Amino acid sequence: MTPKTAENSKTTLTDLVLPSETNPLNNLFGGELLARMDRAASISARRHSRRIVVTASVNHVAFNRAVPLGSVVTVEAKVSRAFKSSMEIYIDVWIEDRESGERTKANEAIYTFVAVDETGRPVNVPELIPETKLEKERFAAALRRKQLSLVLAGKMQPKDATELKALFE
Ligand SMILES: CC(C)(COP(=O)(O)OP(=O)(O)OC[C@H]1O[C@@H](n2cnc3c(N)ncnc32)[C@H](O)[C@@H]1OP(=O)(O)O)[C@@H](O)C(=O)NCCC(=O)NCCS
Repeated sequence: MTPKTAENSKTTLTDLVLPSETNPLNNLFGGELLARMDRAASISARRHSRRIVVTASVNHVAFNRAVPLGSVVTVEAKVSRAFKSSMEIYIDVWIEDRESGERTKANEAIYTFVAVDETGRPVNVPELIPETKLEKERFAAALRRKQLSLVLAGKMQPKDATELKALFE
């Protein structure tokens, strides 16, 4: 399989925050943002693998900033590392100032998707080649995050999580 770059899977969704999507403080519901991020990440994983993809885990979500009603929200997803059948997708969320058009980073999240065949069995995906400094940093840390996610899911023994152990040595 031909390796791909993060840019090949870049997916950008821009949409408004409507009244039905807000909490009593008139800010975007967390669940609505999760759904938008899941959709963008799913398209990104599909672009990388050109297969059916399913969400395997949501590894990290940081709601650092409230997103007010009426905001223009841009969700940008890219594959940060591909393993055998799984792909880590890094999602950055931006809001745009109405007058200046300046973008501010509001939130970020990291999802894991798995490529599967028509029967739901995992299938291999192309390798990801990181290009920029940020892509290289995210690529390097992805194995550690995969091991943490597998340990928390009870799918890996802590003793086998070599990347995590290395942090404390
Ligand atoms: C995701 C799914 C295909 C994994 O199946 P599985 O039987 O665990 O398969 P495997 O053990 O072979 O794992 C497949 C890959 O997923 C990865 N994976 C599985 N669970 C994971 C987790 N919690 N976190 C990170 N990666 C995970 C494995 O490490 C493996 O990666 P690799 O092939 O790149 O090394 C399966 O659990 C599934 O279909 N889940 C439901 C998905 C779904 O419906 N999502 C929407 C929820 S509403």
